[in-house]
Amino acid sequence: METNTQNIDLSDYPHLDRGLEGIVAFSSRKSFIDGAKGDLIYSGYNINDLAGNATFEEVCFLLWNERLPNREELTDLCHKLQAERELPEAVVNYIKSTNKQAHPMSVLRTAVSMLADFDDEAEDKSEEANIRKSIRMTAKMPGIIAAFDRVRNGKDVVAPLSEHSTAYNFLYMLNGEEPGENAEKIMDLCLVLHAEHGMNASTFTCRSICATESDIYSAVAGAIGSLKGPLHGGANTAVMNMLKQLDKNTDITAFVKGKLERKEKIMGFGHRVYKTMDPRATHLRKMAHDLAKEVDMEYLYNWSETILDIMKSEKNIDPNVDFFSATVYYSIGIEPDLYTAIFAMSRISGWTAHYLEQAGNNRLIRPRQLYLGEKNLPFTPVEQR
Ligand code: ACO
Repeated sequence: METNTQNIDLSDYPHLDRGLEGIVAFSSRKSFIDGAKGDLIYSGYNINDLAGNATFEEVCFLLWNERLPNREELTDLCHKLQAERELPEAVVNYIKSTNKQAHPMSVLRTAVSMLADFDDEAEDKSEEANIRKSIRMTAKMPGIIAAFDRVRNGKDVVAPLSEHSTAYNFLYMLNGEEPGENAEKIMDLCLVLHAEHGMNASTFTCRSICATESDIYSAVAGAIGSLKGPLHGGANTAVMNMLKQLDKNTDITAFVKGKLERKEKIMGFGHRVYKTMDPRATHLRKMAHDLAKEVDMEYLYNWSETILDIMKSEKNIDPNVDFFSATVYYSIGIEPDLYTAIFAMSRISGWTAHYLEQAGNNRLIRPRQLYLGEKNLPFTPVEQR
């Protein structure tokens, strides 16, 4: 419904901004985005320097501690993550017994919420306990996603390994076989690229929940719900669903223009902050290109490039992180409805980093609303209405 603000005294609401566009509600040391230049910084380091050089585990340490780890600290974090991978039996039983048609993000949201019930420190709000819980959730989320995918496909749940990287272990648990070096590298790079991104909707949700002094599991469960939406992390699945509608006979120009004429969005394009190419999309585009050749899916990459050209010429809108990540995941054989859950498996690092930051310098988040309804109507008992 249109917001009609005519005849309303706005003097009491000097900052009415639908969608909070341009509102700075937090200070943070976790990340910086220059939307005009297309720069993304994680706690001091440009994403272009981290991509391909730092591992996901190094990025987790960076986001939680605002500095890169030395070798000993990194080894220590990797060991802690490896030691926390096992899921509580009740969570595995839930995954086995839930509806196989459920959305993986719904299952992830419920399972993460359940983890709190089996964590003795769930209600411990100290920073040390919150760091330990951040490590636990980061360690356990890949197992939840992989287990649900296997169960719904009639396969046995694969227990986690107590060695190897997060990326390696996830692919191992998902496919039931040890991944090759290249597959691990691709997954690790995807995790690095999705780890943190300023005050996006799910991070805002996470910080809002933290700001009521609620626990970190509640904040992450809320953030998962927020990421699920197709205007946010759910766009990667929507991109692949769109690409899967095409075939070699599709006139892609007509397809895209038709959608634009009908005022439909092309998923994976546009961003509230970037007004140029999302730097993460640049890395994913290259990966998608290399992979497409390798797995003989060049058609998919070519369609993506055609869509990109049309969006640029028709609307001057660039792709975001979700556009090429969809092609990358598809090319390595992952089912489209898992893409957003994989995004969450990485973004858990950013969400928890923000939770720690918010908890360390908290203020309740409580904006106001512009009331458009009637006031002081005479009340009539139900029998008289
Ligand atoms: N396809 C077609 N037109 C678009 C798109 C798109 N993907 N994105 C923006 N536009 C158009 C809008 O229709 C609007 O045009 P108009 O001024 O003629 O009405 C204009 O660009 C501005 O768009 P808004 O929706 O107002 O921009 P907003 O900042 O609110 O939205 C958003 C940003 C939600 C990401 C939007 O670009 C979108 O819906 N994209 C598709 C979904 C998507 O890819 N989401 C993932 C974002 S990245 C992430 O969250 C991980």
